[in-house]
Amino acid sequence: MKIHNTVAGIREALRSDRAASGPKRIVFVPTMGNLHDGHIQLVRDARKHGDTVVASIFVNRLQFLPGEDFQKYPRTFEADCALLIEAGVDHLFAPSEDELYPQPQRYVVEPPAEHADILEGAIRPGHFRGVATVVMKLFHIVRPHAALFGKKDFQQFLVLSSMVRELAEPIEVIPGETVRAPDGLALSSRNGYLTPAERAEAPRLHRELSAIVSAVRAGERDWAKLEQKAIAELKSHGWAPDYVVIRRCSDLQPPTGPDDGPLVVLAAARLGAPRLIDNIEI
Ligand code: PAF
Repeated sequence: MKIHNTVAGIREALRSDRAASGPKRIVFVPTMGNLHDGHIQLVRDARKHGDTVVASIFVNRLQFLPGEDFQKYPRTFEADCALLIEAGVDHLFAPSEDELYPQPQRYVVEPPAEHADILEGAIRPGHFRGVATVVMKLFHIVRPHAALFGKKDFQQFLVLSSMVRELAEPIEVIPGETVRAPDGLALSSRNGYLTPAERAEAPRLHRELSAIVSAVRAGERDWAKLEQKAIAELKSHGWAPDYVVIRRCSDLQPPTGPDDGPLVVLAAARLGAPRLIDNIEI
């Protein structure tokens, strides 16, 4: 795996790959590092979708709100590189902040409010502007043919796939399935913040979502009743839920009738200090 810390470096490496062996299908996996099996699964999937796998590691200040964990977000570069090498990444782009943002980023991608100001965006205003802006910038640097994003961040996937479609970027956006621990907890860089007691409690979030999925599949249509029951259950076990909601997969709006298409149940809740998110498609 070749590591590039500059924009010029990754561009030149991809150009010389092309010069040496002809056009290649480049598949890109952007990350913020602190990698776990979910990321590694994305990299393995990437290999099936193209010839050259490019990953990036960049902790993107723009998507953190003041007071969020930007400073203490774990930087585990050496361990991440070992995992990426094992997973078969060809090129890693790992710029410094000064390299990617040599001046304050004034030109940004502003996702529409109906995608970006609901759910995660309502709790974390501006988060998806930061995500969309850095991903678009990374796309312009790497020029991939395809890019993979995990569905654990379901709303992020909606924002980024919509951005690519509406801005006519010639990039295939590919979803990666959520990878779970054997007890159901969705893998996340933030799981590392859980105390042992919180880690033992954490799979309840997945269990509550699974119970909603089973109830809907069995014919229950009182969405509010299902959502409130899960919220009450979480609260009674020490969680502070931000939301548990049933939404349409297509636009994350509340279901309105038989033409809604597939649904998804999404949740975000604090367990002590860490804030966990999860979702299951119904
Ligand atoms: O999902 C993430 O890790 C980040 O939001 C992303 C897509 C790498 C942008 O910083």
